[in-house]
Amino acid sequence: MTEILPVSRESVEYAAELIKKGEVVAFPTETVYGLGADAGNPDAIKKIFAAKGRPQDNPLIAHIWDESMLPGVISGELPTWASVLAQKYWPGPLTMILPKGGRVCLECTAGLDSVGVRLPGNEWARRLIRASGVPIAAPSANTSGRPSPTTAKHVYDDMKGRIPLILDGGEANVGVESTVIDARTFPVRILRPGGITREMIFDALGSVEVDAGVVRPLAQNEVARSPGMKYRHYAPRGRLTVVEGEALAAAGKIIELYDAFDGEKRIFAMEDHLSMYGEREKVSLGKDRREAAHRLFALLRDMDDLGVEAIFSEAVDETDIGLAVMNRMGRAAAFNIIKV
Ligand code: TXA
Ligand code: MG
Repeated sequence: MTEILPVSRESVEYAAELIKKGEVVAFPTETVYGLGADAGNPDAIKKIFAAKGRPQDNPLIAHIWDESMLPGVISGELPTWASVLAQKYWPGPLTMILPKGGRVCLECTAGLDSVGVRLPGNEWARRLIRASGVPIAAPSANTSGRPSPTTAKHVYDDMKGRIPLILDGGEANVGVESTVIDARTFPVRILRPGGITREMIFDALGSVEVDAGVVRPLAQNEVARSPGMKYRHYAPRGRLTVVEGEALAAAGKIIELYDAFDGEKRIFAMEDHLSMYGEREKVSLGKDRREAAHRLFALLRDMDDLGVEAIFSEAVDETDIGLAVMNRMGRAAAFNIIKV
């Protein structure tokens, strides 16, 4: 039985009791919903991997409620650049990879000597960690390979019968997962783009690198710096094709592909481009890149519910959060991206 409770003082206390007992609880964050357990408890961590069907070599992020929780989660002090970022962007959608401390078990980091640490912006998430008294390991609360959940219902669809409790905090605000950076060396390197953008990190530090795997598939001989980058992700059941290029040309190509496809199909387009597609079945990605980030995963799940077999989507501009949108779209499309 999986219970869903709205977030409140009481439900968060109850969730914290479950976490202390080594159970797994789903909870809202500002990015997507997480599947949380005590980061120092190997048996609890194993339950997360089992519930998601997650590959054993993909490490989990440790969530803290406040910087006072850092000692033991990481080893040593925050490097100066990491401390600048923490000051500026925590609480918020930024995960920093740092040397692992003794409070986090090796099951959590999949055997690595580094750990991803995040101080979430969602008030209820922080209260839960605080009440649990332990760092909470939490991947996104989806079945491995599916789009990340941005509502409690999405979590329920994937996790019913697998976990005891889902805390419902409404729609996740950002809609894509946190930015993951390797913060062990300077300049820091973005391994997964998210709500704290490349521009924001550049603004704080004066330099930033973006890993090659962020917007294109890794070649056979390249090593994934973040194990998660190896796997196919966010995949809808239908085939997603992304068309990149100047708006009119892209629309032309999308129309050509759409008209040639025989089956249940949809077009994803920015709000102000919708009229270019006439009577064809289409869905709005929103008015801007931020809205596209907020909606993307929910739209992909909707397409599965509707039995859509082919999706033809406009690409979005890779500035600010657009980089995160294109990273997720590229993976959802298994990099089936057409440039016009
Ligand atoms: O917004 C988020 O980050 C959400 C919410 C729940 O906080 N969590 C999340 O976790 O997206 P997950 O497990 O779905 O993605 C974590 C990513 C994976 O790609 C993983 O490989 C990478 O972070 N990662 C975690 N620890 C790492 C480490 N020590 N070294 C390199 N990559 C790491
Ligand atoms: Mg995930």
